[in-house]
Amino acid sequence: MKSFKNKVVIVTGGGLGIGQATSHAFALEGASVCIADINEQAGENLVEKIKQFGGRSIFVKSDVTKGKDCKKIVDETVKEFGGIDVLINNVGIQPLNSYKNIEDTTEEIWDSIINVNLKSYFFMSKYSIPHIRNRGKGVIVNTASVQGLQSDKLVPAYAASKGAVLSLTRQMSLDYAKENIRVVAVCPGSIDTPLLKDAVSLSFDKVDEGIDEIGNKHPLGRIGDPSEIANVILFLSSEKASFITGEYICVDGGLMAKGAWGG
Ligand SMILES: NC(=O)c1ccc[n+]([C@@H]2O[C@H](COP(=O)([O-])OP(=O)(O)OC[C@H]3O[C@@H](n4cnc5c(N)ncnc54)[C@H](O)[C@@H]3O)[C@@H](O)[C@H]2O)c1
Repeated sequence: MKSFKNKVVIVTGGGLGIGQATSHAFALEGASVCIADINEQAGENLVEKIKQFGGRSIFVKSDVTKGKDCKKIVDETVKEFGGIDVLINNVGIQPLNSYKNIEDTTEEIWDSIINVNLKSYFFMSKYSIPHIRNRGKGVIVNTASVQGLQSDKLVPAYAASKGAVLSLTRQMSLDYAKENIRVVAVCPGSIDTPLLKDAVSLSFDKVDEGIDEIGNKHPLGRIGDPSEIANVILFLSSEKASFITGEYICVDGGLMAKGAWGG
């Protein structure tokens, strides 16, 4: 039997990259999926792709930095599918113009990163939890990053947002454990997505060569595929992970095992 049959899942930033792979993987496992994204084309394409194998999904065009859009995502999911079992707070940005030290970081850049990478996790959790509670149990998976654990130069807002996501994960897990709502996080290493390719294009003339070089820094000798994060998110959202809460899992090809970025 499909492992998420009769389950309803929301994926923020579900249109591209890790979110796309995660939405697709949940739908393949029988879940009804709400794909929430600001990119209409990406969201609609994915709904079409999911329909082709008989999967169930809706797309809600939304800017998750806005509380009213997050409420709309939740309301439309409940209206369409009757409840919520799993929330995947996946959305995240690292704009090209944000690679600066703290002095050169503008308030606008700071706010844009914190609002997407952190504030949306607050809004989506706040509005989803009453519905998850109605199911008697559920799971929230937050996408942090290895950059929430160790840092790199010129990423002050991104690093702060990811450290905060890990802290929020621990904190929320305590408030909701008694209600059997688990709150967990994943920390991806470098994963082959539009976000990573944009970042690589800053430092390398040829993106493919840059990806190889970054891949070689990972002990497994390559960057990850979005499906490799999706697999772990599905595991964490499943009954197989029923005793895991307040914890994170690095899915990073061994990067954190080295204890440092370099070398
Ligand atoms: N790719 C990596 O190497 C990597 C590494 C560590 C952590 N992460 C994290 O994984 C998550 C997914 O990253 P990705 O690489 O798949 O990113 P991506 O840029 O490839 O995809 C992000 C998706 O979020 C959507 N989005 C952006 N702003 C939005 C907004 N305001 N409202 C709604 N949707 C919005 C985009 O349209 C896009 O579909 C992020 O939290 C990111 O920080 C990625």
